[in-house]
Amino acid sequence: MPELQQRRARRAASSARTAVLWAAVRELVETSAARLGRPLRVLDLGGGTGELAVPLAELGPTLVADVTVVDPSPDALAALGRRAGESGVQDRVQAHQGDADTLAELLPGRQFDLVCCHGVLEIVDDPVATLRVLAGALVDDGHLSLLVAGRLAAVWARALAGELEQACTVLTSADGRWGLHDPLPRRFDLAQLRELVVAAGLELDSWHGTRLLGDLVPSNAIDTEADRAALLGLEEALAGHPAYPFLGELGAGLHLLARRA
Ligand SMILES: C[S@@+](CC[C@H](N)C(=O)[O-])C[C@H]1O[C@@H](n2cnc3c(N)ncnc32)[C@H](O)[C@@H]1O
Repeated sequence: MPELQQRRARRAASSARTAVLWAAVRELVETSAARLGRPLRVLDLGGGTGELAVPLAELGPTLVADVTVVDPSPDALAALGRRAGESGVQDRVQAHQGDADTLAELLPGRQFDLVCCHGVLEIVDDPVATLRVLAGALVDDGHLSLLVAGRLAAVWARALAGELEQACTVLTSADGRWGLHDPLPRRFDLAQLRELVVAAGLELDSWHGTRLLGDLVPSNAIDTEADRAALLGLEEALAGHPAYPFLGELGAGLHLLARRA
């Protein structure tokens, strides 16, 4: 496949992978803004290059007042600045270099209606401490959107790659890693997440699995808009299927919405 086509296929597959997650976040923003009668103040911890922060700001000032991104990587923050500029939302996206441990010092007394923590709990030193800090940054009735890597999906992925020993290690190890060379410090399952959320003083509102199939379908199989739509339709049908509620636990991502207890 020519390079341009390959790039398009990768982009299409990637947006199919994130569509279910984005739909859930956007719905939360819309319902919260309607309930509050004003736009939301959003914090994105570990927001990186702005893959979530910029689309959130793009929802417009009637839904999202501003998005504050805290991330330790200066390179990621520079990319965030460029992305926000290209989208014309730079006035409503603030970037701070910092991390979970320095959040309270960086933004003293600031509280948010929505706090996002996507793809970060896997790498912080102390997940419960991070969740406690995030709970403290929420207004009463504010929401936490938490996305983490799911353990079971990694079991499937390693097994399908023929790495049965690694698959078994992911399943049985305390941190959900497949070995010393696993790039991810930890993965979670739903039961663990429920405990962590409660230990941090939060109440679980809802959860769903994301990327149930997206990471298993080869990128070059998602070649056309029709392929993308078919994958997306299947992802959505599986993630919300009432007869198979457990299927969500097979998601490469586990997405939870929680609020202060
Ligand atoms: C996998 S990326 C996720 C980026 C973004 N949240 C997303 O979902 O696309 C992880 C991000 O967390 C940041 N990070 C690493 N350690 C962190 C920490 N201790 N506290 C907050 N963010 C951290 C990294 O710089 C990186 O931008």
